[in-house]
Amino acid sequence: MNALFELYPGLRQSLPYVALADLPTPIEPLARLGAAIGAPNLYVKRDDLSASLYGGNKVRKLEFLLGRALRDGRKCVMTFGAAGSNHALATALYARQAGLRSISMLVPQPNARSVGRNLLLSHAAEAELHHHGGMVQVVLPSVYHYLRHGLRDGVLPMIIPPGGTTPLGMAGFVAAAFELKRQVDAGAMPAPDRLYAASGTMGTVIGLLLGLVAAGLDTRVVAVRVTQPQFTSMRKARRFFAATNRLLHRADPSFPLLPFPEDRLEMRHEFYGEAYGQYTEAGMRAVRMARETEDLKLEGTYTGKTFAAILVDAAAGRLRDRTALFWNTYNSRDFSRDITHLDYHALPRSVHRYFEESVQPLDR
Ligand SMILES: Cc1ncc(COP(=O)(O)O)c(C=O)c1O
Repeated sequence: MNALFELYPGLRQSLPYVALADLPTPIEPLARLGAAIGAPNLYVKRDDLSASLYGGNKVRKLEFLLGRALRDGRKCVMTFGAAGSNHALATALYARQAGLRSISMLVPQPNARSVGRNLLLSHAAEAELHHHGGMVQVVLPSVYHYLRHGLRDGVLPMIIPPGGTTPLGMAGFVAAAFELKRQVDAGAMPAPDRLYAASGTMGTVIGLLLGLVAAGLDTRVVAVRVTQPQFTSMRKARRFFAATNRLLHRADPSFPLLPFPEDRLEMRHEFYGEAYGQYTEAGMRAVRMARETEDLKLEGTYTGKTFAAILVDAAAGRLRDRTALFWNTYNSRDFSRDITHLDYHALPRSVHRYFEESVQPLDR
């Protein structure tokens, strides 16, 4: 049972919600890896196993977002992301499971094998895929498809912003922090001093930060920026924190209004590299090390860069006497069998390049 809803029954009554995830996700010690890098109290939160259909961080947001789509009587959702967006894929899969159609408005990104895989699975999930030249070029086609579906269905699609990051989506990660608190209380791990998570649109880290403060955990959130600077900033953090807090307080006034905890959010920009989706040497070293020592499957866009921050902090002695938690946000369910029979020629021409051009050199 969702710990947040149990403590604040008003939230359960007033927030839209549809159960999609297998929660709580396990917490595991990374003893071997921790010992090797100088972080003897290192743990992982296995959100990679958050659901049997498709794991990772997005399903926690979608429980609330698709809950709203259903409550509002929508027939279709429209979302946005890079070509290989895990969020767009998760939205397509869970929308279909909830009986909704989905449209993914995609923009270019550096090529990687995961991009083609995600596109194929999105297609298998019957998502309507559109790929345009950039964030400006995607605006008009989005309006067109939004209205087209609205006219056809008699009800407009629900817009889900990139990453599913809205106050309602972030409620999923407030709930995740309460889940963690309950696991800490049950002895799964000591209360973490530092929680490391990738920051793409900031929804994961800000939902967690609000939830940790509300749940009474003193953890510092280390947000490793993996997208362009405009998506991860202190100004955004304050705004998202306050908006999500207001939403929960309005839904259940016993959920407190909290000041933004300035000293509890550490933003790390140095692992980003050259571009979103562009792998870095440090990130790929972290991917290899995690796989070789713990069979932990990370990737180059989000979780490798995040784990690189842990390696650097451990090497600097910052994790010697602290308990650190790595929040694994990347799906680890193998879906290769669902896509092997698919031919990319069935996808829109604009995405064929991800199958025909070579992937970036560090993707091996
Ligand atoms: C694997 C993975 N980790 C982390 C993130 C970042 O989450 P957020 O957008 O909530 O910051 C994403 C978002 O797409 C993701 O796919």
